[in-house]
Amino acid sequence: MTARDNDWDGVRLHVVTGKGGTGKTTVAAALALALAGRGRKVLLIEVEGRQGIARLFDSPPLPYAERKIAIGQGGNGDAGAPGGDVFALAIDPEGALLDYLQMFYGMRSAGRALTKVGMVDFATAIAPGLADVLVTGKATEATRRRAGGSYVYDAVVMDAPPTGRISRFLNVTSEVSDLAKVGPVRSHADAVSNVIRSPQTAVHFVCTLEEMPVQETLDGIAELRAIKGIQVGGIFVNMARPALLPPDQLAAAPDEAVLATALRSAGLPGAEDLAVHLAASLGEHAQHLGLQDRERAELDSAGQPTYELPLITEGIDLAGLHRLAAELRDQGAA
Ligand SMILES: Nc1ncnc2c1ncn2[C@@H]1O[C@H](COP(=O)(O)OP(=O)(O)O)[C@@H](O)[C@H]1O
Ligand SMILES: [Mg+2]
Repeated sequence: MTARDNDWDGVRLHVVTGKGGTGKTTVAAALALALAGRGRKVLLIEVEGRQGIARLFDSPPLPYAERKIAIGQGGNGDAGAPGGDVFALAIDPEGALLDYLQMFYGMRSAGRALTKVGMVDFATAIAPGLADVLVTGKATEATRRRAGGSYVYDAVVMDAPPTGRISRFLNVTSEVSDLAKVGPVRSHADAVSNVIRSPQTAVHFVCTLEEMPVQETLDGIAELRAIKGIQVGGIFVNMARPALLPPDQLAAAPDEAVLATALRSAGLPGAEDLAVHLAASLGEHAQHLGLQDRERAELDSAGQPTYELPLITEGIDLAGLHRLAAELRDQGAA
């Protein structure tokens, strides 16, 4: 062990992307739980307005406010160590615009009136980049926020847009540069960009071991590497299926006759049919594991740290999230 706490020690803003459906929201939540050990305070942010975090934690829909939602994991395998707090926030562009007006112009009530006449739709329609800057702005503000000389949050985890949109989403300064060359939007964008393009921020990829998500992950990593200052983080392989048999037994073609004999001697009726089915599903399982290994090798070629999270067959509830969080801690991701 080195003196480092975990692989992402200096990182305070964890941006979690991935192809939709691969478990982005689930992994972001597990990472937040994992980071919230030893009394640490972590903010988990959702940016797509789907209330996925609330559902995951069995909580009522999140308002546009930071809410305590869970207690984190105990520290370093020490079950007795106190967990910290996970707060959650669902950001929508409208709330972010109001915040922005308040922060820079002290005109929250004017903002309210503006939203009534559709200002937000208007602003976000004429300047799609603006919505992104406002959302990332809220996340970076929470990351930098201080009270009494120390950070309010030890870490912020963002359940970010999917891989196909992530580089535009994070490339804030270039997205708004046509819109605003000078003025408050511009300097706000620059401040946001300074956090995002710093060692304080890492962009993690969630991926399943299938061809499409793997390809999207590799493409997404290449795109982000082309943006100066953005740190590509870890690859979180999710829902990997574990091997049910040792490799040598899986490699050997399953012998139906041997299986039938064994099943018969176990006193099972219909041993022959059962043996055929069993041999077929063993064959499929072996083939699936082979495909997984191939995709794993592809991901390894990206040269980023990888973590592996098992498929939780009972489905994801709070206990499942804590299991995934414990895995992340064991593997050094948090
Ligand atoms: N490790 C896992 N084991 C079992 N089910 C999982 C796991 N990770 C995610 N899921 C399930 O997969 C589905 C998609 O996950 P979700 O986090 O919502 O994906 P995304 O945010 O990428 O769309 C959900 O039903 C979730 O419960
Ligand atoms: Mg999601």
